[in-house]
Parts: sequence; C-alpha cells; structure tokens
Amino acid sequence: MKARPCIIDTDGGVDDALALLLALSSPELEVKAITVVAGNTDVVQAVKNVYRLLKLVSREDILVGIGAARPLKRALHVGKSIHGADGLGELDQYYDGSQLRYKDVMVPSNLPEATGVLVSMAKEYGARLTLVTLGPLTNIALACQEAPECMRCMGEMIIMGGAIRVPGNMTAVAEFNIWADPEAAAIVFETIKHPLLVGLDVTSEVIMSAERVYELLRLHPSAIAQFVVDCTAFYAEFYREADNIGGFPLHDPLAMGVAINRQFVRLERLHVDIETEGKWTAGATVGDTRRRRDRDESGLNVDVAVAVEAEAFKSFFESRVWNF
Ligand code: BDR
Ligand code: CA
Repeated sequence: MKARPCIIDTDGGVDDALALLLALSSPELEVKAITVVAGNTDVVQAVKNVYRLLKLVSREDILVGIGAARPLKRALHVGKSIHGADGLGELDQYYDGSQLRYKDVMVPSNLPEATGVLVSMAKEYGARLTLVTLGPLTNIALACQEAPECMRCMGEMIIMGGAIRVPGNMTAVAEFNIWADPEAAAIVFETIKHPLLVGLDVTSEVIMSAERVYELLRLHPSAIAQFVVDCTAFYAEFYREADNIGGFPLHDPLAMGVAINRQFVRLERLHVDIETEGKWTAGATVGDTRRRRDRDESGLNVDVAVAVEAEAFKSFFESRVWNF
C-alpha cells in the first residue's frame, strides 16, 4: 500500500493529540507536515504540545509550521475548561517520585510560518495531498487567500467541525472549531470544492470510556498508553460534569479516521453556509437538509458525515494507537 501524503492543521488540544497518534501510527498516511493554530490553547503552547507528542513517538523530524495566534476578526477564546491550562489536560500535575513526569519540551527556534508550509505542500503534492484540520480554520483561510488555486488543487480536505442536525458544543448552534473563527470557515468553504465535514453529528456518537483508557494501559503498558491516560483525565472529567457521560468524544481522531478510511462514515452532499453575523448564531454551520425535488445540485458544496460506525472506528483506533 502506498502511503498518501498528508498535512495536519491542529490547535494542540487533548483529542488533537489522540488524532496525531492515530495518524502517526497509520501506514495509509505519510504525515509530511503539521501546522499549528490558536484554538484549544494559545499558538505557542499548541506548538509545544505538538512537539511533546512528536518527541513521545520519536518523530521530531516532521516539519512543523507555526500559524495564526488569533482568529481573523475576533478575539481568541481558548478552551481551558475542556483541555486544561496547557491544552493537554494539565500534564504538570503528574510526578514520578519527585520528578515531573512531563518535563518542558524544546521547540526549535525559527519555525516556518504555517501559511507558507500549507501552500508549498499543496504545490508540491497537489491532487495527492490530504489535508486534515483539527482546529479553527484560520491558517487554512490565510492560505486560501494567498494561493486559492493551489489550495483548490489539493486532493481532499477533511475538517473536524460543525454541527448540522445536532446542537453545538460552544453555543446552542455552533461547534467550537467553526465558532472560534467563522470568517475563516466561510473563506475556506468558498474556496475549497467539497470539503468533507466531520462534525458533532458523528463525533458525538463516538465516546471512549475513561475506564477503557486505564484498561488499555494495563493491557499494553507503554509511555504512549500512560500519556493517553494522563492527558485525557481532565478532558473526561469535563465531559462527566458537563454532559454526564463516563468518557469523552473522539472528535479529532474520528476526522483522522475518515482520512484513513471513509467507510467509517456515511456522507451526504449538502449545501452548507457559515453564519458569520448572527448575535446568537455566529459560527453555525447552516446545512440545507431539505430534500426538495427542485434543489440545485450545483449548489451542494460540502460532503457532510451524517452517520458513523462508532464501534468499528473505536476498535480501529485502539488497534492502532495501543500497538504503536
Ligand atoms: C473540537 O473543538 C476542540 O475542543 C476539539 O479539539 C475539537 O477539535 C470539537 O468541537
Ligand atoms: Ca482540536
């Protein structure tokens, strides 16, 4: 099997780390670069989190681009209550004896700028390139403004974001990644032909239980299994308190899973607009789910994941990450 070149744009949170582990343990994808954006945490911390992960799996050779520190037109709101102050579940609470389990990570100085990395990867790999986005779409929008033709020529773009037929998780109607920078999402949706949207409609169905993460550490003890236990504890606690569930959704890992194998979801091509103005509705992904006979097929701009094989995906995710 020939690995497909892939670029990942991430905002450095807990489920982003799990998605990176999935990508880096999957022979179907060859991760050529990772670009980083502010979202779950600020962009400098998000870069640190990416390097922590790359160090854990000895892949610091991968090119990392540092991107936007804030959304295009709005203030930055980081997701501290969900991902912790460091974006990775507050890893500084863990000790082995008197030693911090997770020491500070070194980040190379002079990292390239994310927009340039995105555009040059799109130029180099064109139709062979898979782009997976796990955070707000600021970096991608900037790349679309700089080189729209180039970005349009990429093979596929898979976005974790949006909520079409289900409520939002940031507001009643908006999902975090789109809500954080709706103007950027609107630019991306205008530029890219048929992006594939893996939103809350499907990711909320894929819940990993907190107990299972402990059990997997017992069954496959390793530094990676320990890291997963440690970084997900805070995240799971948030979901226990907020949504009364005994685990956490695999939002970003499912988007990565779809990049590896589309069979995990069922797709529907819809017309989707991004709300950029509403006082109560900014960041909503307004999908026209009406099935009118006279609908204009040429206006269907997004492939939306509408159903998921949740158990199949979870088994796949476990088989990859815990056998790294
Ligand atoms: C998305 O928002 C972030 O909190 C997660 O990392 C994920 O990308 C889910 O709405
Ligand atoms: Ca994310």
